[in-house]
Amino acid sequence: MRIVGRSMLSALKRLSVSHQNQTILARSSSVRSAQRNPESQSQRSVHSQFGTMSLPERKPFTPDFFFRQLFDGESSTYSYLLADLKTGEAVIIDPVLEQAKRDAQLVKELGFKLKYAINTHMHADHITGSGWLRELTGCQSVIAAASGAKADCHLKEGDHVDFGSHVIDTLATPGHTNGCMSYVIKEQGCVFTGDTLLIRGCGRTDFQEGSPKNLYENVHSKIFTLPDNYRIYPAHDYKGQLESSVWEEKRYNPRLTKDLEEFIKIMENLNLPYPKKIDASLPANRECGVYDIPKE
Ligand SMILES: [Fe+2]
Repeated sequence: MRIVGRSMLSALKRLSVSHQNQTILARSSSVRSAQRNPESQSQRSVHSQFGTMSLPERKPFTPDFFFRQLFDGESSTYSYLLADLKTGEAVIIDPVLEQAKRDAQLVKELGFKLKYAINTHMHADHITGSGWLRELTGCQSVIAAASGAKADCHLKEGDHVDFGSHVIDTLATPGHTNGCMSYVIKEQGCVFTGDTLLIRGCGRTDFQEGSPKNLYENVHSKIFTLPDNYRIYPAHDYKGQLESSVWEEKRYNPRLTKDLEEFIKIMENLNLPYPKKIDASLPANRECGVYDIPKE
């Protein structure tokens, strides 16, 4: 009986190995057919216990495009240092006052010339670093004209900001605030959404002329109409997620996948506390952040 038992066991093992091989073969043949069919190359098949799903393939950054995501822990803000590696011209999106020295040092170490410090909007939860970076590096500060804040350059939708051979396209996406802009770099397939669209969330709409209707309509008509594989880089994340994509947020954003009526209800019932730093941040940010620069 023991001998029979052992042979049954090894027969079962052989069966299981051959089943695994079949599964692997099935997967590799689906990869081969994807390689043969150019149309399916833009979608990556992912097999899981829940079936097969198709993630859009990410577009790699071009070799001359420098990208660095930076973080401020106190306000959970992401800033983005971008540069043209051929010319050294750089921009920073949404710098934070307390990190301005860090950012200026990084720019210096990497041999970049900071051209612009660009804000997605007039922040209520931290003071922008654009004013201090302007003093430290000689860059120009940039924000939407509709924000009502002071800056060296004011943007409206359709304006372009260039650094080296790279171009940032501007989309007006008010809703979180009146002056919210999203910045698109088509060649790199990415969009910087500020607080308009966060990873599986969005900015609050209960102050600074916020409007849930505007936010919803702008996200749907201007961000969700970008190609599915565009990377989304928000101004904040409170859970440690670094980036998302248009494809993901169109499917999994728990607020923006609802219809407009339900979205407005959600936004009107968030009952969020008054932002801790709003009283210091708004007056300082109206002055491009130069109003409250720490002495050292
Ligand atoms: Fe904000």
